[in-house]
Amino acid sequence: MSDLLVQGALRLKRAGVEEWRGDCEVLLAWCLGWERWRLLSRSEEVVEGECRRRFLAALERRCAGEPVSRIVGSREFWSLDFEVDGSVLVPRPETELLVEQALEVGGRLEPSALILDLGTGSGAVAVALARELPCVQIVATDISLAALAVARRNARRLGVADRIAFVAGSWLSPFANAAGFRLIVSNPPYIPSGEIDRLDREVREWDPRHALDGGGDGLDPLRHIAGELPRIAGPDAWFMCEIGEGQGDGALAVISGVEGVLEADVVNDLAGRDRVLKVRLAGLRSR
Ligand SMILES: C[S@@+](CC[C@H](N)C(=O)[O-])C[C@H]1O[C@@H](n2cnc3c(N)ncnc32)[C@H](O)[C@@H]1O
Repeated sequence: MSDLLVQGALRLKRAGVEEWRGDCEVLLAWCLGWERWRLLSRSEEVVEGECRRRFLAALERRCAGEPVSRIVGSREFWSLDFEVDGSVLVPRPETELLVEQALEVGGRLEPSALILDLGTGSGAVAVALARELPCVQIVATDISLAALAVARRNARRLGVADRIAFVAGSWLSPFANAAGFRLIVSNPPYIPSGEIDRLDREVREWDPRHALDGGGDGLDPLRHIAGELPRIAGPDAWFMCEIGEGQGDGALAVISGVEGVLEADVVNDLAGRDRVLKVRLAGLRSR
């Protein structure tokens, strides 16, 4: 198989694929149905027939610009393997900061606390939280029924389906009455509409537009959600929302006008970029 790996890697390198070596290994391991590390210990194995054809076809798709996670249909997030398809955003490593921040608060909540994940996509954030907080109940919403189907499958495969309710609808519209959520998290679309055409090709051509487009300044979904927070937040609740580079001041301005906000802050990622808006709310019942 080592000859196939060398040829494949060279093919990707010539096509300008940045991670040519790693991508080649991931694709071959996927075709073989192996963990990637096994390629090292079984490099003498002969790969032929259907498996070889599948690998060569996958290489061509990668050379044509299709992201590896779209080809293999999965992506790791929070050290868990998530199924992805064309209806969901491929979960990104930067969203792990949202999970980390949510866990700081989630770990202090009473066991039966209710958590809400708005715009769940593949279910990455909701499933990661459910795995780390074994007693909480989570409601996860999305406007896309196809995305919710993927999220449900991920929750089932990762063993947390009994604690996540998946609900279809636009932002907070499914919740007619005060819902008493203690922690509300969201990674909404936040790319300004005019910047989508300038994103990397792998993002603009392969991630669904409804998962990217945040309107004129990228903050329309946040405005929408923020306006409804007082209605659905429980006592002493938190709202945490992923934002993009340079959106911190705008996000703080949006949230400053919301009734019941006790404190609001922007958490930066390791590169110093605005990444998570973190808000403590008095909540309807405690006011
Ligand atoms: C940036 S993706 C985040 C997906 C996932 N939470 C993650 O972090 O990988 C935004 C998600 O919001 C969903 N979305 C877009 N507009 C929505 C709306 N009006 N109401 C609910 N969800 C919406 C999209 O379908 C998409 O799944």
